[in-house]
Amino acid sequence: MKILNVAGARPNFMKLAPLVREMEARPGISALLVHTGQHYDTNMAGQFFRDLQLPSPYASLAVGSGSHATQTAEVMKRLEPVLEETQPDLVLVVGDVNSTLAAALTAVKLQIPVAHVEAGLRSRDRTMPEEINRLLTDAMADYLFVTEESGRENLLREGVDARKIHFVGNVMIDALEVFRPLWTASTIHRRLGLSAIEYGVVTLHRPTNVDDGRTLRDLIDALLEVSREIPLVFPVHPRTLSRLSSLNGTSSRLGHDVQASTPRGLRCVEPLGYPDFMALVAGARVVLTDSGGLQEETTALGVPCLTLRENTERPVTVTHGTNRIVGTSARRVVDETFRVLQSAGAAPPRPPLWDGHAAERIVTILARHGSEADAG
Ligand code: UD1
Repeated sequence: MKILNVAGARPNFMKLAPLVREMEARPGISALLVHTGQHYDTNMAGQFFRDLQLPSPYASLAVGSGSHATQTAEVMKRLEPVLEETQPDLVLVVGDVNSTLAAALTAVKLQIPVAHVEAGLRSRDRTMPEEINRLLTDAMADYLFVTEESGRENLLREGVDARKIHFVGNVMIDALEVFRPLWTASTIHRRLGLSAIEYGVVTLHRPTNVDDGRTLRDLIDALLEVSREIPLVFPVHPRTLSRLSSLNGTSSRLGHDVQASTPRGLRCVEPLGYPDFMALVAGARVVLTDSGGLQEETTALGVPCLTLRENTERPVTVTHGTNRIVGTSARRVVDETFRVLQSAGAAPPRPPLWDGHAAERIVTILARHGSEADAG
């Protein structure tokens, strides 16, 4: 059985690593990797391939940045000949980025079955590009692998055939476990002067938070206020960096000195690789983020997470995890962070099936269906 796996942007790489490993360990499965190049900088893509031991891609499509239509269309145009040449039995896509949707649409039009890992998540906010990507990818997929019960419920409500839906757990948590030796060996705390002190971690990149100057300025003011109480480390996404540099006066108030031996304030650093970033998150007193995946990783690690959004497509991180949805009002962000800093709640147990074995379950299901198709 030949499975062609599609990677596009940073949050895809850690999800694919355990899956590709599992496929490579199974006789009878041949795994190919295609990198669309939606993310292309070393610190957004290259270092993840190295650290997560992803195989060299069979094809790199080098689509780069662009508008949604351009990026989606370029992936489709460049992937189609690769699918025609390789004739895979299945195309596997993960997550909700533009490359996910583009690859699924290209495959389905060539009548190649599609597997979607991390299916069924819904924020119900159609202004999020990812929500459109999720809805459309799920409408096309033949295998829908869900991470939490809400995923199954959403898909059934949308009329997806129950036989296509498989509740398998979370491959992002598989990556956390597979690469635990790597991230526990990281020296990031020493390099940032954070050994033996309390600190928080911040990530921000959603267009709704960073593209609007006023929202971004309010959030930065809130973070600056929090950082007078506890140092905050802020690995800055390229989208956010370009918006910050156009905000008058803001960048001069942010600390850029990565070498400082005494951490203070809001410390902006380059985007970090997987081992350094997970080490930083695992040791944090609090995480403030608008990321999707980080809500899950903090839940698995038992680290309090405040999500700077009005909604989440991952409700299990709130009902069974450490996540709270706090919105983007500066006052609320500050108050909620101080509340976390004053509390010492025990971490709840992990959500069902977030046990590090999701990739095994997924590949077992795909292999079984593959051999049934051969027999038929
Ligand atoms: C994309 C995903 C988002 C995901 C995020 C993770 C979509 C619609 N969005 O958002 O779901 O959470 O990745 O990071 O697919 N850039 C660089 N170097 C890179 C990549 C991007 O400088 O390697 C800059 C470019 O200026 C680019 C901008 O970042 O225009 C945004 O990149 P893009 O891939 O369009 O969206 P993200 O905001 O990264």
